[in-house]
Amino acid sequence: MSGLEHRQLEPEILDGLAADDPRALAARRDLRRINALMFQTKIMASLLRKFVPRPPRRILEVGAGDGKFMLAVARRMVGQWPGVELVMLDRVDLITAQLRGDFDRLGWAVEGVAADVFGWARKNEDTRFDAITVNLFLHHFDDAELVRLFSLMAPKAPLLLAAEPSRTKLALAATRLLPAIGANDVTRNDAAQSVRAGFRGSELSGLWRAVNGKPLEERRAGLFSHIFVGASAGDDP
Ligand SMILES: C[S@@+](CC[C@H](N)C(=O)[O-])C[C@H]1O[C@@H](n2cnc3c(N)ncnc32)[C@H](O)[C@@H]1O
Repeated sequence: MSGLEHRQLEPEILDGLAADDPRALAARRDLRRINALMFQTKIMASLLRKFVPRPPRRILEVGAGDGKFMLAVARRMVGQWPGVELVMLDRVDLITAQLRGDFDRLGWAVEGVAADVFGWARKNEDTRFDAITVNLFLHHFDDAELVRLFSLMAPKAPLLLAAEPSRTKLALAATRLLPAIGANDVTRNDAAQSVRAGFRGSELSGLWRAVNGKPLEERRAGLFSHIFVGASAGDDP
């Protein structure tokens, strides 16, 4: 028994730190390196190419963090997808003028929303997007919360695309190597915690079906990632 048979959720340290806390700033820098090591940008871009058939007008990125992940995705997609409107939502307001400038230069318009996703979704019932993306976000929630989240997200877009941690021994072992890239205590704790709360098999598909959605793909991707793509009920993406 590896202890990874079932998801285990503990609060992550980063979620309890102020945005300008030096440990939080360092942890967000670490997160950028972890995204690179996990090939998360490449994974998300290939999902978008495969499942979003026409250039989208509006995308919602939930749990966007400092927005650097989505900027890297936009750089990969801009050739095929000019002029996308991107709404980046996070509990913490981390969107800087420099980031807006980076998106402007790509011709993408960015709106930052600082809000809890559950409260925001309930208050914005009629807001619609062509796709919703999440990166290293769903694992923050237990299964009941995910069903609630999915029930709020599914009516907002024909597709939800997710790149999450894979709950495997290999991924957990890799988190023990994080000191080698200079990761701080917050990152070392939260990365291991994220793997234990991550996904395997068809767990997300089951939760998506609980809100009458249609799972399109769920599998391990690369060495450490787990992807999920779901279509909303009645939508033919
Ligand atoms: C592990 S970070 C990933 C950030 C970003 N997607 C990336 O890859 O760099 C998870 C993010 O989810 C945000 N978050 C957690 N719970 C949230 C909630 N209920 N509503 C909105 N954002 C939330 C956190 O503030 C954090 O920025």
